[in-house]
Amino acid sequence: MATPVLRVKNLSTYFHTSQGVVRAVEQVSFSLAPGKTLCLVGESGCGKSVTALSLLRLVEPPGKIVSGEVWLNGRDLLKLASSELRRVRGKEVALVFQDSLTSLNPVLTVGLQLAETVVAHEGLPWKEARRRAAELLYRLGLPEPERLMRSYPFQLSGGMRQRVSLAMALLLRPRVLVADEPTTALDVTVQAQILAELKRLQRELGMALLLITHDLGVVAAMADEVAVMYAGSIVECGPVTEVFERPAHPYTRALLRSVPRPGEELVPIEGQPPSLLGLPDDRCPFLPRCPEAREECRKRRPELLKVAPGQLVACHYPYMARDEG
Ligand SMILES: Nc1ncnc2c1ncn2[C@@H]1O[C@H](COP(=O)(O)OP(=O)(O)O)[C@@H](O)[C@H]1O
Ligand SMILES: [Mg+2]
Repeated sequence: MATPVLRVKNLSTYFHTSQGVVRAVEQVSFSLAPGKTLCLVGESGCGKSVTALSLLRLVEPPGKIVSGEVWLNGRDLLKLASSELRRVRGKEVALVFQDSLTSLNPVLTVGLQLAETVVAHEGLPWKEARRRAAELLYRLGLPEPERLMRSYPFQLSGGMRQRVSLAMALLLRPRVLVADEPTTALDVTVQAQILAELKRLQRELGMALLLITHDLGVVAAMADEVAVMYAGSIVECGPVTEVFERPAHPYTRALLRSVPRPGEELVPIEGQPPSLLGLPDDRCPFLPRCPEAREECRKRRPELLKVAPGQLVACHYPYMARDEG
């Protein structure tokens, strides 16, 4: 694999609430190579968004990053001075938030804030900046960019706002784009168009993409690598071909089974994701829902270990294809 552009090591983020500690992100590690896509998947509430926010230290109190390293270009972002970190944000690592309203200024027109971003960071003339913004909006499936740029965020549909936020992040041509559920508010045709556009930009710019989604179809279409999160931790990761063809963690297997194929019925995953408040760490977090749980799983939390080249699994009894034979 090429030298990673982003390397995250043992990242943990907790929320210290009046009821106790919510361990939203626990010892998460991954790396991302230039031009490649890593998809972070998992059920709602498993820590995907908090992971993304932690990378750029955007978690708000009572959330706190309690440990970890986030290496970008030879520097640990968790140790940078705030003034330096502000320069990294946007230009080197851009983040598209899950809630697109939060990234847009309600009192400025779309065109003004898009162009302003380019003018401020790159010193382009306004006219040139507006032209670049309009072109990108058009490519993201917004056919009347000039009219759109004269609108205010509240005048747009959720899907349009999502694409404007994406455009905002892409305009600066970042080395790494972190996109949190960037296509969830969109219908499938528009979604496909945006994913294709993201891929094209990736090729053009060598941009690395950390794509957060709960949609396994998006993963199949986009990912080089996939990391499956459960209860704040990565439980399985590796090349998407390996993980999808030979899922080894019972949770990954359940997730993949829950996606209906033509003619097949949806198999929902039984039980609820656990609360991350006071989650015990002396046993497997998937234990209550695991169809294969054994004695060992009640005694010790499994570590993320290699089961195949590049494929890591946190399970005492990972499923191997040979088990079938
Ligand atoms: N402000 C907060 N206070 C307490 N807990 C929080 C807060 N924000 C997020 N969490 C907890 O962090 C966990 C992970 O949330 P999140 O990363 O948003 O999940 P995902 O993006 O995977 O749906 C959730 O279970 C939630 O309970
Ligand atoms: Mg989220």
